[in-house]
Amino acid sequence: MYDSLRMQSVQSPIIPVVGELIRSNPGTISLGQGVAYYGPPPQAVEAIQKFLADPENHKYKLVQGIPELLEAIERKLRQENGISLDGSRVVVTAGANMGFMNAILAITDPGDEIILQLPYYFNHEMAVTIAGCKTICVPTDDDYQLQPESIAAAITERMRAVVTISPNNPTGAVYRESDLQQVNDICRRNGIYHISDEAYEYFTYDGARHFSPGSIAGSAAHTISLFSLSKAYGFASWRIGWMVIPEHLYTPIRKIQDTILICPPVISQWAAVGAMSAGRPYCRDKLKMTAEIRRMFLEELAGVADLVTVPHADGAFYLLLRVHKNLESMELVRRLIERHKVAVIPGMTFGMEDKCYLRVAYGALQKDTAAEGIGRLVRGLRQILAT
Ligand SMILES: Cc1ncc(COP(=O)(O)O)c(C=O)c1O
Repeated sequence: MYDSLRMQSVQSPIIPVVGELIRSNPGTISLGQGVAYYGPPPQAVEAIQKFLADPENHKYKLVQGIPELLEAIERKLRQENGISLDGSRVVVTAGANMGFMNAILAITDPGDEIILQLPYYFNHEMAVTIAGCKTICVPTDDDYQLQPESIAAAITERMRAVVTISPNNPTGAVYRESDLQQVNDICRRNGIYHISDEAYEYFTYDGARHFSPGSIAGSAAHTISLFSLSKAYGFASWRIGWMVIPEHLYTPIRKIQDTILICPPVISQWAAVGAMSAGRPYCRDKLKMTAEIRRMFLEELAGVADLVTVPHADGAFYLLLRVHKNLESMELVRRLIERHKVAVIPGMTFGMEDKCYLRVAYGALQKDTAAEGIGRLVRGLRQILAT
């Protein structure tokens, strides 16, 4: 039987491979998982009663989301992000990944090109390939910050969009407002879209500030902003996010979503209404512990500064270590799991093939486990890399 060549060219996610290694090495502490340590606020669970109270809720609902959630999202975007929604629309999705796929399908034809920053988020690279398009990778600088001139220089006739993720997965970098302004302007001048993934908008530390390119005056017609409840509200399995899109993409995006999803799960949308009524303070409170763990990780890693560089990272819950020794990153991960019982994600997953990189995630952990995990990582790196 025939297997699609297109799908054969899509990378296989490494996370399940690392997951299998963890399972076969019981007791391994995972610094691999890109999820928050907490679940949703009680308001989310309470709001499910509203869903259950109306038998009509068991039927299909609007493709773009239920009005109650759309209203809550629009209020939040105006108040927190400075996105006015003049000339743009909101569509609720089953998470930000789905928002990204919707966007790529709506703005490309096969053979078109999309700029991703290197290192990229692997699901973005996979989505571009699934759509039959080509990823053009533009390297970020030594601190994983944007290089707007390189982005401008990479634009071709077939370019359709530049993607930025801030705060970033896998680097933890929070992009400077001035750089995001510049990238958005480059996109406007070249008649291409700026896709801004803001799944980690609440996860910033040490005074770093998140900036939404969708708040720039005159950006509505070429800016697609993606948001998610997965991290902020401990909502990963509930599958709710949303996209802010230019008005002219409203019809094509709804065609795609109608075909793939019909409507985002309505029970989860009601839970999302509840979660958003708790609002940002819910996440801010939870973030205190994650911020302490981040500080502890940075201090511990400073002890192996001769072996790995930890570029500046004040967002999300990731650090992308640059290993000084030139090992194959998956091989290093395997050794760390098998010999030192600590798991991280190899940089190759994020397109980093030039040198050896490791992504360390600290969002899923409680303090004690985190302390043990980072201790094992530092000892493991010292033993493996110092020989
Ligand atoms: C940058 C980025 N975007 C999107 C997602 C997926 O978000 P969602 O669960 O809303 O699909 C992730 C998850 O790790 C992510 O890191």
